[in-house]
Amino acid sequence: MNYMVEIIPDQSKSTIGEQLRKSLSKIIGEGIELDKLPLLEKKGYRIHEKIIGRGGENKVYLLENTQKKKSLVIKISVMSMFDNSDDAFYKAKRLREKFELIKKHWGEYFIPDERMFISKINKRGRLAIITVQEFFGDDIKDIFKEILNGTFQKIVSKDQLLKKDFLLFVEKLLEWKDLGLFIDLYGSKNLIIIRDKNNRSKIKFIDSHFLLSSDDFLSLNSEANSLLYHSILSRVGLLEKMYNKIRENN
Ligand SMILES: Nc1ncnc2c1ncn2[C@@H]1O[C@H](COP(=O)(O)OP(=O)(O)O)[C@@H](O)[C@H]1O
Ligand SMILES: [Mg+2]
Repeated sequence: MNYMVEIIPDQSKSTIGEQLRKSLSKIIGEGIELDKLPLLEKKGYRIHEKIIGRGGENKVYLLENTQKKKSLVIKISVMSMFDNSDDAFYKAKRLREKFELIKKHWGEYFIPDERMFISKINKRGRLAIITVQEFFGDDIKDIFKEILNGTFQKIVSKDQLLKKDFLLFVEKLLEWKDLGLFIDLYGSKNLIIIRDKNNRSKIKFIDSHFLLSSDDFLSLNSEANSLLYHSILSRVGLLEKMYNKIRENN
């Protein structure tokens, strides 16, 4: 299937690499697909060479729509590269399974839809997992940052819809906490406030590839994992505290 996405060469100095540009045109045309790509069916995209985000796993690039439609992000799993497509496909499927579980629990409102591909991204021919998702702007706010600097409560007290979003998100989180299931609340700007096209603030969780049970955490037993586990637990605690505060003031 040909998804007909035009990758327009950028005139600015390339950091994204010719190989990636080629492989993106290729995957969009004939890559191993885990899903279909309705979002990209329209022509008129432009890849920005500048990295717009970086997490523990991905480098994130902007795929701007030049026809005033929704722009997208391309996340490239630079920290996990593979030498053969079986390994890459296996890993991608497992990530996709986690994504599906998280999306099923919270729903598409909080968990934006995404598509995942596997592609070579450099001359050495190693494979990366590539995720395409809607771009939420460059002024997204990290909820934890807002909570920690004391502005979150002020924001939600003036915005009933955002308050409702927050309470619902945390209720879902607490349901999973009771089951000993945790998402990656530790990564920076994973749980964010965005502004939609009508300037309404909404809550999104944009990094849904991580799902661990407390049993996993405890059995992994390394210092790094224990630290991560406790960091995530403490962030769940922060959200729970804020949840109770907001409900008391209601
Ligand atoms: N859809 C998006 N819109 C805008 N910025 C994004 C989007 N997705 C990711 N980013 C930016 O890129 C960073 C890394 O993306 P993320 O999906 O969290 O990757 P990782 O798995 O490596 O943590 C985010 O923290 C955020 O700053
Ligand atoms: Mg992240």
